Amino acid sequence: MIIVFVCTLPYPSYTARECPAKGSLAVPCTQASGKGFEPVEFSAPARVNLIGEHTDYTGGLVLPMAIPFRSIATIQPSDAGIYELSSENFPSTRTLQSTQGLVPVHEWSDYPVGVLRELLSLGVKPPPFRLHLRGNVPLGAGLSSSASIEVATALAILALADASLSPQAIALLCRRAENNFVGSPCGIMDQFVITAAQANHALLLNTRDLSCELLPMDQDRLAGTRIVIANSTVKHSIAGGEYGLRRREVEIGQSALRARFPELRDLGEATLEQLAVCQSKISPEAFRRCRHIISENGRVRAAREAMLVGDPIELGRLMTQSHISQRDDFECSVKEIDFLVEQALSLPGCFGARLTGGGFGGCTVNLVAVEDAERFAFTLKDAYRRRFLLEAPVYICEAVDGAVRQNASTRPDRR
Ligand code: GLA
Repeated sequence: MIIVFVCTLPYPSYTARECPAKGSLAVPCTQASGKGFEPVEFSAPARVNLIGEHTDYTGGLVLPMAIPFRSIATIQPSDAGIYELSSENFPSTRTLQSTQGLVPVHEWSDYPVGVLRELLSLGVKPPPFRLHLRGNVPLGAGLSSSASIEVATALAILALADASLSPQAIALLCRRAENNFVGSPCGIMDQFVITAAQANHALLLNTRDLSCELLPMDQDRLAGTRIVIANSTVKHSIAGGEYGLRRREVEIGQSALRARFPELRDLGEATLEQLAVCQSKISPEAFRRCRHIISENGRVRAAREAMLVGDPIELGRLMTQSHISQRDDFECSVKEIDFLVEQALSLPGCFGARLTGGGFGGCTVNLVAVEDAERFAFTLKDAYRRRFLLEAPVYICEAVDGAVRQNASTRPDRR
């Protein structure tokens, strides 16, 4: 089955816009008893990254957008004086007698409990609650199911505690929950775009200073394209070893560069010429990983220009170049993903295709002419089924808003 999501919000103007994520700073938290609090739902989207992969932990650029899969957190005060966390997708319910001494138990509930712990450390004091999670974000597909759960949980607990934080502060605390409690060494991209995204825009984020810009998806000839995501169903996990190994290799390369060029703050500022100077100081693997990162930052800058002039040919070309770099230099692709990319590029209407997200499985993201999108999806699925005897769900997506209070129709309800 082909799942088609179409979002029909009015199109904004054709220029880059300032991203409001930093706008309002944290409002002081007040204690709340939760009495009189009706169950409230908070909904956070998933994300797909258009370009800028593995650049978000060394001060680089990323260009993701939010997509219309959702995680929904429902919260209400608990009369029993305990904290209860449940999920439609998992059978176990986690019960906390108190919020002291929280430790991971290596299952789904570590994500919301990690968020709770980070909120407590900021002085947010929710009364005992029942939190229930549900949603339709494909798990382990590289579309950020975990960040989506974290952000929905953070919004729900903040609401119950009658507290609020800026989108940026929420993104940072959710990443800390994932790094420190769950133990996944992820960067900031997913949590940030899930809180701060706006419909019909991709979000260009500088991960060094968290400055960001909203880039229209509908400029000129880009208005005639769709983002099509193909799910290889090969499970990806950033808690698994490969992501962390790549990250360590990149950080070794970054250290060598900074030792040689002390003015460099991180790889986000490094050039390929500087990397060449350091080649003999680092392993061939670290060299190739850094070559991917540095060239990828350049491709994100070029993608910004392509989006602003609405050039799908150039944007698609950059996406495909990004895939080649991930495959050959970063070595984070797998044969199923390479097949999906090669097939996609042979199909009518496809401007570019690449592996998206953490890699080692997951999804491809494709830029496809709108009139060809349905046939593209059908043909790609068919080819994948014949080659691997596997079903590849394909999603045709438009960019949606970041996390919201469920059913909210106005900006003030966004956190
Ligand atoms: C995962 C991580 C992100 C980012 C991507 C790769 O999605 O959660 O922080 O590093 O991989 O770009």
